[in-house]
Amino acid sequence: MVNDIEMIKGISVIGAGLMGHGITQVFAARGYSVTLVDVQPEILSKAIANIRSNLTLMAKGGIGDPEEIEAVIRRVKTTSDLREAAAEAQFVVEAVYEDLELKQRVFRDLDSICPEETILATNTSVISITEIAERAETKERILGTHFWNPPYLIPLVEVIKGQETSPQMVDATIELLKRVGKHPVRVNRDVPGFVGNRLQHALWREAISIVEKGIAEPAVVDEVIKYGFGIRLPVLGPLENADMVGLDLTLAIHSYILKHIERSPEPSPLLRQKVENGQLGFKTGQGFQDWKTDRAEQSRQYLLEYLLKWVKEHEEK
Ligand code: NAI
Repeated sequence: MVNDIEMIKGISVIGAGLMGHGITQVFAARGYSVTLVDVQPEILSKAIANIRSNLTLMAKGGIGDPEEIEAVIRRVKTTSDLREAAAEAQFVVEAVYEDLELKQRVFRDLDSICPEETILATNTSVISITEIAERAETKERILGTHFWNPPYLIPLVEVIKGQETSPQMVDATIELLKRVGKHPVRVNRDVPGFVGNRLQHALWREAISIVEKGIAEPAVVDEVIKYGFGIRLPVLGPLENADMVGLDLTLAIHSYILKHIERSPEPSPLLRQKVENGQLGFKTGQGFQDWKTDRAEQSRQYLLEYLLKWVKEHEEK
């Protein structure tokens, strides 16, 4: 088993889509050789072009050396052959579609191809790691590494221990992720949604419910966060905040409010209705709000600039 991360030289990333190309970039930018695999050859060439354009944008924002971009790209090999990619890697990250059956097959195959010491990680957003590992024999080397989009800018990676994952594999993964500049955190129990998506979707469920009940317009719900408690969140997480205001006050607030907060175990009917009507958000121009092409593009651009600035500032600290 790979307990010593010095033994990790080769990385393989399975699935070259939105997350896969970004995860590849994270490792290649820090000197690792990466083999990127996809079943669609055209996605592989797109992935390389995307990595080049991400690095160029970062360099323009003062992050990374523009002279190094082509050297980073040269460290990335692409292939459609899982066996070729995985046989030589000491660390594999899977980023194929969010489909349990597909992921189970990929991990069964990886488990039979990869040397026993290779760590096998899944980038699933919410699916149980233990279930994904079900068809593999060597389950102790399978774990979750949940990166956030875009993975080359957002520092967090949740490292999730499945029921049978060896703690040494979790430790080695955390060390490796620190080495490539990420901020890994340990998730002790393999529960759907882990930590980040449980928190995020608890908030989204309430946000949608507030709109559904006519309490406030969608833009207002977002403003309440962006101009209110959202400003505080990067400095003070909710548990730090509870400690700051006092747990006695937190208890008094919860005793009154919790019964009024949304707790449906099903997706909101409003959300279902919008999807049925083809109101999917940016991609169709209409979601909770109107998104004319230029407004959606402006919003994407603004987010990217904000993240680049955030990374630059934190790099300097
Ligand atoms: P995507 O749809 O952009 O890319 C998936 C890629 O996997 C496609 O290019 C597809 O051709 C490839 N693929 C499918 N089957 C394959 C196989 N058997 N072998 C090799 N390649 C195969 O998906 P995306 O958004 O990158 O998501 C990937 C994973 O990351 C999912 O599990 C998702 O839940 C998770 N994730 C996604 C985030 C997001 O914001 N999109 C954030 C964090 C995690």
